[in-house]
Amino acid sequence: MNSNSPIGVFDSGVGGLTVAREIMRQLPHESIIYFGDTARVPYGNKSADTIITYSKQIAHFLMKQDVKAIVIACNTASALALEALQQEITIPIIGVVEPGAKAALKATRNNNIGVIGTEGTINSDIYTKFLKAQNPAINVHKKACPLFVPLVEEGMLKDPVTDEMIRRYTKDLIDLNIDSLVLGCTHYPLLRNAIHNILGDSITLVNPAYETAISLGETLKEHNLLTTNAEANHVFYVSDGADKFKEFAGTILPCNVVEINDIHNIETYN
Ligand code: DGL
Repeated sequence: MNSNSPIGVFDSGVGGLTVAREIMRQLPHESIIYFGDTARVPYGNKSADTIITYSKQIAHFLMKQDVKAIVIACNTASALALEALQQEITIPIIGVVEPGAKAALKATRNNNIGVIGTEGTINSDIYTKFLKAQNPAINVHKKACPLFVPLVEEGMLKDPVTDEMIRRYTKDLIDLNIDSLVLGCTHYPLLRNAIHNILGDSITLVNPAYETAISLGETLKEHNLLTTNAEANHVFYVSDGADKFKEFAGTILPCNVVEINDIHNIETYN
């Protein structure tokens, strides 16, 4: 492993591509090895033990590919498995929750922050812990939105059914006078326009992916790991359904997704 090695990025499936996209924009010379656990998605409704087991297997797989750092591009895995991974992985590893919380602190003006995410992320209360640790005066109002992931996966980004679910999920948060809303799940930035149309300009939508890419750049610099390569070379792996993943990736990423590799034995990487 050296500074020209790739960065490992993983998610339960396609959602983490919103984080990979941001890394590609901000660190265009860095190469990425992306793993999407498409055979075992969703993570959002699974137990912490299961998410830790899956995340460890993926981290070990990425280490075998000689990555120089790992980004957990999944809010649920960041919430439930980052600490466990940090205890056994020796290279730099970052999640999306802490950067997302930092971005929300910068965005709020009235100290009322809303957080939406999967059941796993919301029940872990991790955003509240990070936000309150930084500023005890912050009020955190959270809501699990389990239907958003399937709506995005079905491509229903502009759809009356999606709009209705946004209205229902955010009603209580709006009543609590939030002025910023953390999109605390990898899929939600894809609903950004739909959410903005309903919530309006007075609520700032916070995408943790942006701040995560900044944090990754700072971490690489700190460890003297910024690449000197002239060109990036991205490689994609999934645990199932390479064709569907390729189609989705083509709509999200700024680069050409040439090849997706299927890995059917991810559970053997321990
Ligand atoms: N990637 C997950 C997250 O950000 C959403 C999809 C899932 O439930 O696996 O929490």
